[in-house]
Amino acid sequence: MNNKPVYILGIESSCDETSASVTKNGIVCSNIISTQDVHLKYGGVVPELASRAHQQQIIPVVDAALKEAGITTGDLSAVAFTRGPGLIGALLVGCSFAKSLSLALDIPLIEVNHMQAHIIGNFASRENEQKLYPTFPFLCLTVSGGHTQLVLVESHLKMKIIGQTIDDAAGEAFDKIAKMLKLPYPGGPEVDKHAQTGNPNRFKFPISDIGGFDFSFSGLKTSVLYFLQKETKENPDFIQENIADLCASIQHTIIKTLMKKLKLAASEHNIKTIAISGGVSANKGIRNALHEEVNVSDWNVFIPNFEYCTDNAGMISLYGYYKYLAKEFCDLSISPVARYPF
Ligand code: KG4
Ligand code: ZN
Repeated sequence: MNNKPVYILGIESSCDETSASVTKNGIVCSNIISTQDVHLKYGGVVPELASRAHQQQIIPVVDAALKEAGITTGDLSAVAFTRGPGLIGALLVGCSFAKSLSLALDIPLIEVNHMQAHIIGNFASRENEQKLYPTFPFLCLTVSGGHTQLVLVESHLKMKIIGQTIDDAAGEAFDKIAKMLKLPYPGGPEVDKHAQTGNPNRFKFPISDIGGFDFSFSGLKTSVLYFLQKETKENPDFIQENIADLCASIQHTIIKTLMKKLKLAASEHNIKTIAISGGVSANKGIRNALHEEVNVSDWNVFIPNFEYCTDNAGMISLYGYYKYLAKEFCDLSISPVARYPF
């Protein structure tokens, strides 16, 4: 019998984080994340600069991931990479690197859908960590900078989108509104920080109500814009003087919008195992709102550790591990895709 451990190297380069991770038999040994600060002064990610920064960072980041895991390339069983969705120039860097490594080491190549990998972040843990994993089937709310999806997860590799945003993603709403509030990019964590000391009921903003399990955030964005225009005309310091209450009220509205559809889907699908994933799942308000439902709705709630919420290669490596077990490999003709439906 072959008892050799399965070591998967995961590579993530879809946006502005260059990340590499090693998992051993589905347990995370390393998860190195290099966040590109070159975009800070532009107030958003500049695709061309992201590609260049990935090119510079990828080798040192992979090297650090192997070192921290205590292995060399010769120990790797396969290499997994983010194929999409994401910025095409950024994805090309990770894809080309993974293809070269697979060819050089003669090991299988595994392509990963970044949004599905976010969900798999719920199964990520380190050795000796007592982590409980969601049982199938479960519902996952995936909230990131580019996507907002309600996903019915039937197995590690079988997932179905049952609802999604028809306009802005939740993270995008956080970031765009934060910009109106003159907060630095990325705005989500900034709004979260200021919201801690604010009154969530001070200002009222609309909660969208579109059909089914879909979401909409463009109405909220417009309503905040008009509200701020009106208030700053009367008092130019309105934003600075009320930043905590503004952030708390806006965050409260976004969370209410998300929770409303999540509760509807859970009740209609008769599912009580609920998970969350994606960058916005780092938000303290949404984490608290989910925990409240444990008592109110009798939910079993699963939230990834912080390091697996925002973009990271740990989730890519882990998803690669499940694909490795299912022998779902790809060949060297593969290329990245900016849009990548399930
Ligand atoms: O998943 P992610 O790292 O990248 C994408 O795949 O998009 O998500 C990034 C998004 C950004 O919009 C960022 O503002 C948001 O996640 N985010 C947060 C928090 N941390 C990150 N939003 C609200 N509260 C946070 N604590
Ligand atoms: Zn992401």
